[in-house]
Amino acid sequence: MGYIIAMAGKGGTGKTTIAALIARVIIEKKLGSLLLIDADPNSNLGELLGVNLTESIGSILDNLTNHPESLPENFPKDRFIELKVQEAVYEAKGFDLLAMGRPEGPGCYCYINNILRSLISKLANNYDYVIIDNEAGLEHLSRKTTRSLDVLLVISDNSSIGLKSAKRIIELADSLKIQAKKSFLLINRAQTAIIEKISLNQLFYLGALDFDPLVEELSSSGKPLTELPEQAKAFNQLKEIGEKIWSNTR
Ligand SMILES: Nc1ncnc2c1ncn2[C@@H]1O[C@H](COP(=O)(O)OP(=O)(O)OP(=O)(O)O)[C@@H](O)[C@H]1O
Ligand SMILES: [Mg+2]
Repeated sequence: MGYIIAMAGKGGTGKTTIAALIARVIIEKKLGSLLLIDADPNSNLGELLGVNLTESIGSILDNLTNHPESLPENFPKDRFIELKVQEAVYEAKGFDLLAMGRPEGPGCYCYINNILRSLISKLANNYDYVIIDNEAGLEHLSRKTTRSLDVLLVISDNSSIGLKSAKRIIELADSLKIQAKKSFLLINRAQTAIIEKISLNQLFYLGALDFDPLVEELSSSGKPLTELPEQAKAFNQLKEIGEKIWSNTR
């Protein structure tokens, strides 16, 4: 059964960066098979890992809308989409990647979300680890996963507004009945590692990730985090943070 980590946090806090770096830790430590799910319609997780995805659940749905004749006769549509989505799982070196993408047509994402929800549970069983990178806001998460999460990783900056927002996310997760075995708070881009005592209900304070100029440099030149050198501060800190996550949830 896959060990599922889902990212949460307000916009721009570092969810995708941290998801990509945790992926690198899992890959480089050879912890097991890994599926990354880019559940943000403005996907960029693939890019951060040096993968240029052309297919997504969105593009599959668009194809089917534009070419309804591609659905074999007497073949259930849902089953067909499921097969196509399984085919769209990109096999990269050390991990697989599936992107939600965005459908071109009007309408909501409910349909995609429903597909994702049933698929995540099925797909997750084929991997040792699953990391779901989410868009900011949690409402989407509730529609995406029925299976309980192992870890909800809430990323916040080091401000009191950021922390309040992290707290709201946890309250929202509770009210949406998102079941995570453990919810962690990770402070990102901490200028100092000194974080005041944080008493957030049910949130286990994991630690702080420093601002890393090398991460910023790669990001501003559009390079993937796979190019981040082994000795980079962010990478080493995340190795330690990873250990803390595993030891508190296993
Ligand atoms: N520890 C860090 N040190 C330096 N730069 C960082 C760090 N963490 C994130 N960044 C930079 O901050 C920016 C936002 O990060 P990222 O895209 O991961 O956030 P996000 O939470 O996924 O955003 P969104 O809500 O838009 O999906 C990126 O340019 C990233 O390179
Ligand atoms: Mg992101």
